[in-house]
Amino acid sequence: MTAPAKTLMSYPDPTPLAAVTADPATVLVRLWREHGPLAPVLLEPDVPAWLVMGYRQLGVITRDESRFTRNAAHWRLYEDGTVPSDSDLGPMMFPRANVIGVDGDEHRRLRQPLHDVIANVDHRWLRRTVQDICARQIATIAPTGQGDLVADYAAAVPLLTLGELIGLEPDQRPELLESMHLLFSSGPRAQEGNARFEALLTGLMDYRSPVMGADLVGALLNHPNLHNREEVLQTLVVLTTAGNHTLISWIAAALQLMLTDTRFYQSLSGGRRSVAEALHEVLARRPPMINMPARYALRDTELAGYSIARGDALILGLAGAAHDPSVHAPDWWLRQPHAHLAWSAGPHACPARDIAYTIAHTAVAAAHHHLPDLRLTIDADQITYLPSIWTAIPHTLPVTFTPHPHRLTTTHRTACGPASRDPAGGDRAGGDRAIAPPQRSAPCRR
Ligand code: HEM
Repeated sequence: MTAPAKTLMSYPDPTPLAAVTADPATVLVRLWREHGPLAPVLLEPDVPAWLVMGYRQLGVITRDESRFTRNAAHWRLYEDGTVPSDSDLGPMMFPRANVIGVDGDEHRRLRQPLHDVIANVDHRWLRRTVQDICARQIATIAPTGQGDLVADYAAAVPLLTLGELIGLEPDQRPELLESMHLLFSSGPRAQEGNARFEALLTGLMDYRSPVMGADLVGALLNHPNLHNREEVLQTLVVLTTAGNHTLISWIAAALQLMLTDTRFYQSLSGGRRSVAEALHEVLARRPPMINMPARYALRDTELAGYSIARGDALILGLAGAAHDPSVHAPDWWLRQPHAHLAWSAGPHACPARDIAYTIAHTAVAAAHHHLPDLRLTIDADQITYLPSIWTAIPHTLPVTFTPHPHRLTTTHRTACGPASRDPAGGDRAGGDRAIAPPQRSAPCRR
């Protein structure tokens, strides 16, 4: 007789999820060996969840909306108060009345506007905008010959780019950075950060409201699926926040890989191909979101022989899937670099992978283009990571390079050239329906 399947609560000593992000390769291999495709983990003390690492099981929980919901109101430990309302899990896991937190028809209604505006982004405009932002960031460190590729670069470029994408003016950049910094600080001024961030977006909507424009905010304000200004506001919030940390993580990881792995830095002089390879290798082996929140079981059910109780949280182990022995042979990413789950799957899968690729490729290429003789000043094993159960973003990537104060005083539209065409369609021109914020002095148009 086979033993009854274990329930989440029956495991005596689940591994803290923070251990996975601290050392993904080692801990994920151990979790696979000890537990198989689903492993019990701790999100916080006394807050267990399943970490779903199996490729097939991830396909099931992201696609079967009759059994697994994205709506955290169904999370038992949230419902019964085990997870306190001020928990650090809140920003990523608490219920949200936006596209991320709903399922079914309501989700499709809210996702369509995102899909439409993202599909109409002009990638030539986007690439020039990122090049300009990168050049400005690099100009702050170029004369010194040293800098931190996280603080001075990877942490700033995505948010500034997303701000431009939604139509903020360059002079609003400091307020955007400051408000988002406060918002994600989880500190006493987090609410203030939220209010200031929403005020920026509301100002944007007020400015665009009368315009039947082709710009992104205008398109959202006029989209038939969005019923009121609050829904437009929340769509803008999601567009800005969902892309920020993911892009910081992807850009930093690709730079780290290229600076620490001989396969990459030996060929840096060629540059472009290596950038694409680094970006794809990161997606495949250590995705920007190592773990992703979450699905919640709508009823007692069974998954690959594990007993899932109604209300259990199931974390998407996107990096764990890279170790699935039933799907992947060793070194699989070299032969099948796209067979990963970095963008997740099913109806909630990332709708922005093309623009994410354009932004990340342009940023990583620009760093190598503008910072000659780039070298990390610490050993690879001295790199430490910001505490998080979702991402593994380095605290710092201190570098030296040949100083060149004059080279960056002008912004070159073609400084990095066109990004190579991503197999996912990243290098797409916009055409006449393309969205690029008009009526503003985007630096690339001056
Ligand atoms: C490194 C780049 C990125 C990665 C790795 C990434 C990854 C992901 C993943 C894994 C999901 C799926 C979550 C789930 O299944 O529950 C997701 C959803 C989403 N992403 Fe991305 N993302 C990236 C960049 C972006 C950017 C730049 C934007 C916006 C400009 C964006 C907007 C979104 C939105 C709105 C969703 C929610 C979609 C929905 O719930 O229907 N992402 N992303």
